[in-house]
Amino acid sequence: MKVSQTEFLSVELRQAFIRLIAKHTGLEIRERDRTALSQKIFLRMKALKLLFPLHYYQLLESKTLDSYQEWQKLIIDLTNLESYFFRDKEQFNLLRNHILPELIQRKQDRKTIRICSAGCSTGEEPYSLAILLKELIPNVEQWNLTILGIDINQDALEKAQIGIYRAWSFRTVDPEIKQGYFKLINHQYQIVQPIKEMVKFEAVNLVNDPFPQPNSEMRDFDLIICRNVFIYFDQSAIAKVLDKFYLTLQPLGYLITGHAELHDQNLSQFQTRVFAESLIYQRQADHVLSSPSNLVIGSSTGSLITQPNNFLTKEFSLEEANNSLQTSPEQTNINLQQAALNLLKQLPPDTKIAKLGNLTAAELILQVETALKLSNGESK
Ligand SMILES: C[S@@+](CC[C@H](N)C(=O)[O-])C[C@H]1O[C@@H](n2cnc3c(N)ncnc32)[C@H](O)[C@@H]1O
Repeated sequence: MKVSQTEFLSVELRQAFIRLIAKHTGLEIRERDRTALSQKIFLRMKALKLLFPLHYYQLLESKTLDSYQEWQKLIIDLTNLESYFFRDKEQFNLLRNHILPELIQRKQDRKTIRICSAGCSTGEEPYSLAILLKELIPNVEQWNLTILGIDINQDALEKAQIGIYRAWSFRTVDPEIKQGYFKLINHQYQIVQPIKEMVKFEAVNLVNDPFPQPNSEMRDFDLIICRNVFIYFDQSAIAKVLDKFYLTLQPLGYLITGHAELHDQNLSQFQTRVFAESLIYQRQADHVLSSPSNLVIGSSTGSLITQPNNFLTKEFSLEEANNSLQTSPEQTNINLQQAALNLLKQLPPDTKIAKLGNLTAAELILQVETALKLSNGESK
């Protein structure tokens, strides 16, 4: 009798594979992806001419060269490489208008900036950062810039190193960027050499590889950008990587993740900075080792308010914030509503907020979104 691609694996062994994959890569195989996982395992066994899934499991579990090589192949099947240039316009606006100018200012003396794009896939994210830096620093060749793209998927890194992209990688990009930094070759776009040379790539497994590493590039970053990676991770893997990221940042270095990717995590070691465009996280300055971490509300004018990080129990004081910002009252209001919206989106939707009439985060999001639509209409 022929065994189907999904029936050959017992429930127990499939669970064991799921645990092994989470331990090795951080990737969480969700309920809906379990059939697909069985199919992937079946195809890998077929390629290796293995008859029993237990033997495949034992191969993955062993600490041998064969095991290492097989993980590389399985990882190609397990990872999602979706990426494009300047993905998430709002976060790139925040980088362009606030975070990178602040870093450039702060690093003016030593002219050294170190950035890591963690989970960089085929390179669109680190190359976007290189383009931004090139545009923001007039004498860029006098600076010592490190932009390191890291990923667990070696196929993706090879493509990143080649730097040739289809039109779909530019789905939200202004035509000037495409014209200025890419050469059209056979209907595809090749990144120009000066930008290519600004970026290095390295295979790093965020979960299992040790870092920071003093004698490697995995150290002392001013900015780590890790977006659309944690959405695939289980919570314990995210916590583990966050601890390592914290230690791999310089004091006052920034961490940027995708929106709402850290909502169940303990972020007390970081200072949370709230901008209209996004929440981001900052390593404390060296001298604030034991103080409680802060929530900081920022605006493009640079005005800041700090509050204890636990915004579930402390009131998010819009009034106080309003007083300290220097833009027009209407714009300030819109900025604050946007900041509040971003904050609320970090919470599980059913979280009740006592200070706001016990409404849930989902209900408040609706209210703020409606208010924002009205304010935007009025401000036009
Ligand atoms: C959806 S892509 C995100 C690409 C890019 N950051 C973006 O937002 O456009 C997720 C990337 O995370 C990588 N990844 C998954 N698990 C990883 C791990 N344990 N260590 C390093 N990279 C990992 C995948 O290989 C994939 O390239």
